[in-house]
Amino acid sequence: MKAIVASQAPELGRAYLLKLMQKLHTEVGISIDSTQSVISGCIQARMNYLGCADVGRYLATFDNSINARAEWLALVDLLTVKSTRFFRQPEAFVCLADYVESLLNQGPAPSELSFWSAGCSYGQELYSMAMVVDAIVSRHQPWVQWHGIGTDISFRAISEAQRGIYPATAVDSIPEGFGDSYLDEKLGGRKIVTEDLRTRTHFFHSNLLHVDGAPFADFNIIFCQNVLIYFERDRQRWIIDQLVNRLRLGGLLVLGAGEDVTLQNQSVCRLPWPGVSAYQKTGG
Ligand SMILES: C[S@@+](CC[C@H](N)C(=O)[O-])C[C@H]1O[C@@H](n2cnc3c(N)ncnc32)[C@H](O)[C@@H]1O
Repeated sequence: MKAIVASQAPELGRAYLLKLMQKLHTEVGISIDSTQSVISGCIQARMNYLGCADVGRYLATFDNSINARAEWLALVDLLTVKSTRFFRQPEAFVCLADYVESLLNQGPAPSELSFWSAGCSYGQELYSMAMVVDAIVSRHQPWVQWHGIGTDISFRAISEAQRGIYPATAVDSIPEGFGDSYLDEKLGGRKIVTEDLRTRTHFFHSNLLHVDGAPFADFNIIFCQNVLIYFERDRQRWIIDQLVNRLRLGGLLVLGAGEDVTLQNQSVCRLPWPGVSAYQKTGG
């Protein structure tokens, strides 16, 4: 994953920096191919936050203790790109609506529906999915239960997502109709996702590079948009295979537009949605 943060950099020993970059690459998929200033800027930000003036002392915290793990995750949090918004790439949600409609209307309808936003950032993607699914389920077969999960490597993103509170400007991209049904007013002009939607959506800290050990499975729908773009090809392929394994037969996988260039998985076929990297699981 490429990172984009830079500021006043503390001087790091080259050997130490390389070790840290190697660790970021192995554990998170972050590869910093620009300059030392990126990671140095993040380290400076952490040092400022912790009130630590000595870079040697800060770096010494990366021993094998529990505190080291917590500090490591805080640093990773700074290095990840978390830009998102409600109904980002609107066509993907039209595709989702079409898929859910046909699932409910053709053949025996499922008794429950589950979906996953992998790399969910601050939660807008999962809540957008939930709004679409709930609107369709309520209209056609209100007895069908649904639930959604969102996962991300950033603790800060997960905790914001769980709160479900957004500034008024952040909800501008929600199509007309959805906002009235699924958002309540908060003090200060902010909006909060309705309690009903929040109780049926859950957010978890999870690293996509460790997804093979995660207890997530059996989804009807998986969105993994604007995440894979940051990984190298072999890792993209591996993650896609893992996602497909966690889809039910007939399930829908939506990747970010243009993020499917390396897709070689034989268990899915591409759906003809212009501008959407949408796949249906047909085997495996
Ligand atoms: C650009 S955001 C995309 C958010 C959302 N999917 C969307 O399209 O609006 C990328 C997200 O992927 C998360 N991410 C990056 N590396 C990850 C990893 N190894 N495991 C899980 N999440 C990761 C980041 O923390 C960030 O929130």
